[in-house]
Amino acid sequence: MTKESPDPNTIVWFHDRFVPLAEANVNILTHALHYGTGVFEGIRGYYGPVEGDLFLVRAFEHYQRWKKNCGIMRLDIPPTAAELVELTSELCRRNQFHTNVYVRPLAYKASRRIGVAADSNDAWAIVVIPFGDYFESCQGLRAGVVSWRRIEDDAIPGRAKICGAYVNSVLATDEARRAGHDEAIFLTESGHVAEGATCNLFMLRDGRLFTPSVTDNILEGITRASIMELARVELQIDVVERSISRSELFVCDELFFSGTAVEVASVTEVDNHPVGNGRVGPVTDCLRRLYCQATRGHIEKYRHWLTPVYENVCELAPA
Ligand SMILES: Cc1ncc(COP(=O)(O)O)c(C=O)c1O
Repeated sequence: MTKESPDPNTIVWFHDRFVPLAEANVNILTHALHYGTGVFEGIRGYYGPVEGDLFLVRAFEHYQRWKKNCGIMRLDIPPTAAELVELTSELCRRNQFHTNVYVRPLAYKASRRIGVAADSNDAWAIVVIPFGDYFESCQGLRAGVVSWRRIEDDAIPGRAKICGAYVNSVLATDEARRAGHDEAIFLTESGHVAEGATCNLFMLRDGRLFTPSVTDNILEGITRASIMELARVELQIDVVERSISRSELFVCDELFFSGTAVEVASVTEVDNHPVGNGRVGPVTDCLRRLYCQATRGHIEKYRHWLTPVYENVCELAPA
């Protein structure tokens, strides 16, 4: 992961204009800062040196999800998903990015006053920054089930990527890291496995892949959908969406996380128990490679997931 602060001269989209990051600031009384009333997204772009192009991964689906999730918070984003993809491509071009990037769209309640009642004073921004690996190790992660439970849908909908909801992930990550783990695993209030702090979870048992269902308080990951498709179509593996019991984590053959930032990350240890033989499993490794190839444009069948930033240049009105 890129640990340094992004370059303040990076051009971002903020309040309907292209401005340098250094000028994209909010007021201390902003509603979202106090009450967490924002909705964000996370999109990756991979640079292909051979193609000389930067490919945004499933950007259209991410923007569709963002607009729907904003609706839950009554945040209005007027542009269509297709227009948002084009705006993001233009940001990459203006910054002349020829490297892997992370795109962070953020919509938020912008009123400057005290009081939780939200109004229709909405604002939104898109920031694109250079971005590397999320985890330092790709040799297998140590995960730990944390004492914090995953937020229930009838408290704060976890599927919506609401800013305030991420306190749940921050607390879980803090607990997991202090215990010496790389990533947290959340249980639901009913004791089933939900997901990681920032990623979905897959388990391999007896040749079948299992992942918690969308009613287990997970974020409905776009990478999760990609992995299910790759497993079914390319590896002919059964993928079952069902609740997972905590102790299944200790008896399964393979375990991995999926997510835009984490990509496909093997989990080789849970709560100090080895997963399977304690090494990166063959199915996980195969899916990681397939996902990597598909998102770099190396598999023609999945090219439709990608938006080439430099190939498709269309005119945008100057800001
Ligand atoms: C809590 C949580 N679960 C799962 C994911 C993975 O979702 P996606 O694959 O759409 O990035 C994320 C991504 O940010 C997340 O924050």
